[in-house]
Amino acid sequence: MKTDKDVKDYIRTIVDFPHEGILFRDVTTLFADPRGFRMAVDRMLHPYAGQRIDKVAGLEARGFILGGAVAHQLGCGFVPVRKKGKLPAATISESYTLEYGEAVIEVHDDAIQAGETVLIVDDLLATGGTAEAGIKLVERLGGEILGCAFIIDLPDLGGRKRLEAMGMDVHALCA
Ligand code: PRP
Ligand code: ADE
Repeated sequence: MKTDKDVKDYIRTIVDFPHEGILFRDVTTLFADPRGFRMAVDRMLHPYAGQRIDKVAGLEARGFILGGAVAHQLGCGFVPVRKKGKLPAATISESYTLEYGEAVIEVHDDAIQAGETVLIVDDLLATGGTAEAGIKLVERLGGEILGCAFIIDLPDLGGRKRLEAMGMDVHALCA
């Protein structure tokens, strides 16, 4: 079947989730569609074609789904950056705030070797708090971040500016 739907057309918005006043961008409808999911993964990879990427670091939770697919496509390793208390071995951690709360994320302290090149992957960039914490974790392990790839950028929340001020290359498929 022919369709000219773009990535954005597969994403729905849920009003007042998880709190009143939040317009939650729900990518489960994108992931559930074979064409939409493949299009999103392929487009996230596109800016990094020809670059050597050793690891994809996926940010919990939807960054796992995307990051796993991206790493498979690249033939590189995948590193989960998880919410506090979920990883079984020794970790390093960073706390951060986001659009609707506060959290701590962690990574195994042996997940990335010094000098390895890393692509950060998540579904959505809002305030940039989550991504900034993920970047700090990767950099503390000595990883060299080639870029941060998202499906959605909510520019009014300032995340892109925040990451670019850290010297990051930021790519998103839609706003
Ligand atoms: C969402 C989203 C990003 C983060 C973006 O995750 O998937 O990870 O918020 O917000 P920020 O740019 O303001 O940090 P959430 O914290 O809801 O966690 P979840 O994926 O575990 O549900
Ligand atoms: N994370 C932070 N803000 C969000 C939003 N509006 N939709 C989905 N995830 C988010």
